[in-house]
Amino acid sequence: MHDLVAFRSKHLARFQAEPALFSAPGRVNLIGEHTDYAEGFVMPAAINFATLAGISPRSDGKIAIYSENYGEERAFAAGDLPARAGKHWTDYPLGVLAILAGEGHRIPAFSLSLSGDIPLGSGLSSSASVEVATALAVLSLIGATYPGPVLARLCQRAENEFVGANCGIMDQFISANGAKDHALLLDCRDLSFRLAPIPANVALVIANTMVKHSVAGGEYTSRRAEVEAACAVIASHRQGVRFLRDATVDDLARWGAEMTPNSLKRARHVITENLRTVAAADALEKGDLAELGRLMAEAHASYSKDFEASCVEADAMVALAQDLPGLIGARLTGGGFGGCTINLVEQSEAPEFVEALAGRYAAQVGIVPQIHICHASGGAHRLE
Ligand code: GLA
Repeated sequence: MHDLVAFRSKHLARFQAEPALFSAPGRVNLIGEHTDYAEGFVMPAAINFATLAGISPRSDGKIAIYSENYGEERAFAAGDLPARAGKHWTDYPLGVLAILAGEGHRIPAFSLSLSGDIPLGSGLSSSASVEVATALAVLSLIGATYPGPVLARLCQRAENEFVGANCGIMDQFISANGAKDHALLLDCRDLSFRLAPIPANVALVIANTMVKHSVAGGEYTSRRAEVEAACAVIASHRQGVRFLRDATVDDLARWGAEMTPNSLKRARHVITENLRTVAAADALEKGDLAELGRLMAEAHASYSKDFEASCVEADAMVALAQDLPGLIGARLTGGGFGGCTINLVEQSEAPEFVEALAGRYAAQVGIVPQIHICHASGGAHRLE
C-alpha cells in the first residue's frame, strides 16, 4: 500500500514544490489473451496496485523525473526532449511526452516523482500504469483532458512508437478506465465496453511465479507475427477479414493447411479465446461462476498448448491450485512466458488458499512465490 503523505513530502523535499498527485492502477486480465491486437475481446480488471505520480511546475526550463523504484533522478531540457528511446526506465514517461508533443501540446517544464507498488516484470502492467499516471499528471499541468479511451490510445502509442514494444490496447485501457468491483469486457475493435460486476464474495488472488515477463521480449513479438501470418492466409481467401477477430474455426479447417503448424495453433488460440471471453462476460453477469471457472481452465489450456505462451512454473501454479478449497478458476494472466496467475477464489477461503498454494509451489518448483489477495479497483484519477 502506498503512503501518500510520505510520497508527497519526498517530492516536496526533493523539488521544493507541492505536487499534484495522480494514481494509475495495474491490471489483471481475467480472460482474453493476445486477442487485443487481433481486434478481439479482453476482460481485465484494474487492481489495487498502482503507480503514483506527483507533479509540480518548474521555471528553469527543465523536466526532472525521479523514480522511487529505481532510486534515480534524470533531467532533460523541456524544449529539447529525446526523440528516441534509450532502453531506460525514463522511456515510458518520455514516450508519453513525445506523443503529447506530437498531438500539438507544448510540454512545460516540471518535476515528476513516480512510485509504484506493482511488482515490476510480473505481467501486471506496471509500464502501462506509469504511462497513464504520467499522462494524467502532465495533462493537468497543461490544462488539457481527454476521455479515458483516448488517453489509453495515446499511452499505447507511447509504448508502440517510442518505447518500441508492440503491445495492444488492453493494459493502458483498463488502467485508464477500470471500475471498482468490476471486470471490463472490452471490444478492442471499437473500444466499446461493458462492466461486469465481480461478486463481493469473490477474491482476485494473484500468484506471482517470480519468473520475469517482458512485453519488449522477443516471444511476444514473434507470437504476434504468427497470429498476423495466419490472418493473412485467411484474408487471401475471404474478403473482409482484416484481423483474426473476423475469422472463425471453420476458416482454420478450410485453410489451416496453408499456414505453418505454429501459425495455425496460434490462430486457433486467438479465435477460440475471443469466443470464450465473450462467454465469460456473460457467465460473470449471470453469476454463473462455475461456467466462468470452466472457461478460464479452457483458456489456460489453449494459452499453454496452442499459444505456447506459458512456462513450467505457470503451468505448475495453475495445476497446484485446482483442488484447493474455494477455487473458481485459475489461469496464467498477461503477455505470457512468466508473470502471474489469476485465481478467482471464494473470499472466505482466500487466506487459506494463499497459504496452501504458496506452500505447494515452493515445494514443487523450489521458488517462494508472492501471492496477493486483490480486488478490482477504479481507473486512473487525481488524488486530493
Ligand atoms: C501484454 C500486452 C497487451 C496484451 C497482453 C496479452 O500485456 O501489453 O496488449 O496483448 O500482453 O493479452
